[in-house]
Amino acid sequence: MNFDEEIKRRRTFAIIAHPDAGKTTLTEKLLLFGGAIQSAGAVKSNKIKKSTTSDFMEIEKQRGISVSTSVMAFDYKHYKVNILDTPGHEDFAEDTYRTLSAVDSVIMVIDCVKGVEPQTRKLLEVCRMRNTPVIVFINKLDREGQNPFDLLDEIEKELKIKVRPLTWPIGIGKSFKGVYNLVEKSLNLFQGDSKTTVEERLKFNDINDSEIDKLITADFASQLRSDVDLIDGVYDELNQQTYLEGKISPVFFGSAVNNFGINELLDCFVEIAPGPKARETDNGVIEPNNKKFSGFVFKIHANLDPKHRDRIAFLRICSGTFERNKYYHHVREKKELRFSNPTAFMAQQKSIIDEAFPGDVVGLYDAGNFKIGDTLTEGANFQFKGIPSFSPELFRYVNNTDPMKTKQLQKGLEQLTDEGVAQLFTRKVDGRKIIGTVGALQFEVIQHRLKAEYNASATFDQINLYKALWISCSDKKKLDNFMQDRNAHIALDKEGRPVFLAESAWLLQMAQEKFPEIEFHVKSEF
Ligand code: G4P
Repeated sequence: MNFDEEIKRRRTFAIIAHPDAGKTTLTEKLLLFGGAIQSAGAVKSNKIKKSTTSDFMEIEKQRGISVSTSVMAFDYKHYKVNILDTPGHEDFAEDTYRTLSAVDSVIMVIDCVKGVEPQTRKLLEVCRMRNTPVIVFINKLDREGQNPFDLLDEIEKELKIKVRPLTWPIGIGKSFKGVYNLVEKSLNLFQGDSKTTVEERLKFNDINDSEIDKLITADFASQLRSDVDLIDGVYDELNQQTYLEGKISPVFFGSAVNNFGINELLDCFVEIAPGPKARETDNGVIEPNNKKFSGFVFKIHANLDPKHRDRIAFLRICSGTFERNKYYHHVREKKELRFSNPTAFMAQQKSIIDEAFPGDVVGLYDAGNFKIGDTLTEGANFQFKGIPSFSPELFRYVNNTDPMKTKQLQKGLEQLTDEGVAQLFTRKVDGRKIIGTVGALQFEVIQHRLKAEYNASATFDQINLYKALWISCSDKKKLDNFMQDRNAHIALDKEGRPVFLAESAWLLQMAQEKFPEIEFHVKSEF
């Protein structure tokens, strides 16, 4: 296969969902239908159940599982599918955002009983920011869920996207019989009452065929006919280009746990989902078919063995061919690095690979060279954009409780924040370190890992902060003025960029009104 064909056949995506909607189950079923695994139950859910109170074993388990499920690749038809796992717990939202920077499209799972949930909303906002194409899978049709038209309305209104159903459920809950494929005009029915039989597709050229009445009863057949009429009248036809622009989302209905609707989803996904996209850098756009290799690190995973601080950096390949043992340029560090054991992930097997192509993710063993967002090239000096840090939502002061281990603490904080576990800010006025996270659990993770891996002790003190916002101004003098005026509220992030620590929304507004020329940014890239 030549280079261009290798690129075209790649489909790199993530499944996003509010916890419990069925992401893990769907992932497993896609692997099963793709022939990558032989039995159900092989994919472990990577969510930490909230009920387990500050249980470090849970945290460790989570880290173990999320290495093995970080990337799951398999071949399907002539496509190579790369599923990038996003953490299931809402505390890890920022990690999810970064993973979304490495995919070309997403499948969003919605529970038909619960409809649109808070996490669904947040995740979709990120997709919209990047114009990521979204396919919707409405799951758990075996449960008494909402009316499908109401669900679609809710999705359109709440998520501000247009939808186009490509399959349509016949009945719901106890009466769920199967789905009608609106593109192929076929009925895919459950067999018997078990609702676990993989579908049988019956093709009908005419929806008025009386055979349909016999198969699903006259009542359901007439409901289906009127639903199909309504769908054609209400929803625009699916246009692949508008889907690729992230403006319209095809919708599938099914039940992941019962294997239902998965085939339709997978077949359509590989056909219409985009291959590797061109990527923006600080020096123009890089096309995937550019022969020179380039890629960026979107995730770093610490080794589970505390005695070895080596880590795995997950690199998304954006252009060219990645080769084992070849020297590549680490742009931020201005270093040449080569990798003798780059790892690829097929289904759940890790293996050392000799080459990889745009769209692929390789795991690089790293002794501390990488930070999230780092770019590797064949020599060129550009950085990929689109992997920003977001303003954290929770903040704590760091207290060093063992002054003999100050260096260890410093190193631990540096490395853990390089991994993206949390963000580190240093307040200008007194040099105090402030940790910012998206969820409370990270503080426990940091404290535990500082002790276990760096032999450093820290406690955290409350600090009342609403947001940390990056600040900029075209006039440097005005920026300096502002920083002087709000001296006690200025900190630097790890890169030395100035950040305004806002104690409340009101104080932020006051600052914005008094200094209209200063720009406040919720993310580090602007
Ligand atoms: P998540 O990764 O999005 O958090 O969800 P996950 O797949 O773990 O699914 C959450 C729960 O929903 C699981 O039940 C799973 O079996 C169930 N589920 C997934 N798909 C369907 C479906 O189509 N219909 C129904 N009725 N349930 C579904 P659980 O009790 O939490 O876990 P388990 O004991 O079944 O593993």
